[in-house]
Amino acid sequence: MRIFVTGGAGYIGSHMVAALAEKGFDILVYDNLSTGHADALVSGKLVVGDLGDAQLLGSTLHDFRPDAVMHFAAFIQVGESVREPLSYYRNNSMNALSLLEAMAKEGIKHFIFSSTAAVYGNPERVPITEDQTLRPINPYGSSKAFVEKILEDVSHAGDFRYVSLRYFNAAGADPLNRIGERHDPETHLIPLILKAAKGERESLAIHGTDYPTPDGTCIRDYIHVTDLAAAHVQALEYLFSGGKSDVFNCGYGHGYSVREVVNAARAVTGINFPVKEAGRREGDPPVLVADSSKIKRTLNWQPRYDDLHLIINTAWEWEKKNPYRA
Ligand SMILES: NC(=O)c1ccc[n+]([C@@H]2O[C@H](COP(=O)([O-])OP(=O)(O)OC[C@H]3O[C@@H](n4cnc5c(N)ncnc54)[C@H](O)[C@@H]3O)[C@@H](O)[C@H]2O)c1
Repeated sequence: MRIFVTGGAGYIGSHMVAALAEKGFDILVYDNLSTGHADALVSGKLVVGDLGDAQLLGSTLHDFRPDAVMHFAAFIQVGESVREPLSYYRNNSMNALSLLEAMAKEGIKHFIFSSTAAVYGNPERVPITEDQTLRPINPYGSSKAFVEKILEDVSHAGDFRYVSLRYFNAAGADPLNRIGERHDPETHLIPLILKAAKGERESLAIHGTDYPTPDGTCIRDYIHVTDLAAAHVQALEYLFSGGKSDVFNCGYGHGYSVREVVNAARAVTGINFPVKEAGRREGDPPVLVADSSKIKRTLNWQPRYDDLHLIINTAWEWEKKNPYRA
């Protein structure tokens, strides 16, 4: 089977490529390398191209004739999306639409979409079930929610089928330590903590210590990137065996506060890095935890790395080896 992976040179996409290669899929990555890295591909071929380049996208899909498309390529920073909404709607919503049009032209009918917990905004209830109303509170979340709506409508209009996976906080690195997280600038908690532990940052800032949580800091559901990639493989097999279009949360169903993650990282690294308490960031819900029963039940997804110390340890092994200072 041939799989076309947009954004496959990025953090999650590169772990996806590793998981697909392990299963014997034929992989073509399409990535403009705006935030990705060509050397993050442990397998497959790379076409360096932009999703906005309709001609290159169309001819690449035509030549490769994939059985499915996995769409990771996007901009991912919430704060930046507030400052530059147009570029987020262009890259995350419009380019997804162009990709779907190019797929329709080539008769490609299976699609897996990287959605996000940000589509929920401030959730009505926690753990969050997939049926909660989507009320994104920033352009990043809205740009993804639009795509979900488009997918729903397209699937009703023909025999196109998709799975949309709403990731909570992807974290950790390849257990074989070939690839890991390399965002620049980095905005995610665990790599920021580890950069503080390495001395590459002066300290780790905790944004908000007065939230209505047991220790006052935000709680998030951290999912190991290898378990996340495995969820995509399950989703792919589900679509190939005739499964109907659907949406699933990807998280473990329990969360950790920022202070708990800091303490776990101190235990894993053995380094007592400095921490500074700072003010809240706008738009951070106090608790985001997935109800993950639907994906476990429907796709038979069974996480293997549901352990905060293990997640941090894989990320730490990668950080120690990683020469980049992103
Ligand atoms: N990292 C997380 O915790 C998280 C959480 C929820 C959802 N997601 C979603 O997962 C996906 C991957 O996130 P990531 O953390 O791996 O990000 P990333 O920035 O590491 O990867 C994105 C990749 O897409 C490529 N890309 C971006 N725009 C492109 C374009 N116009 N044409 C071609 N390639 C383009 C980049 O070069 C990069 O390789 C995104 O869609 C993101 O919204 C991530």
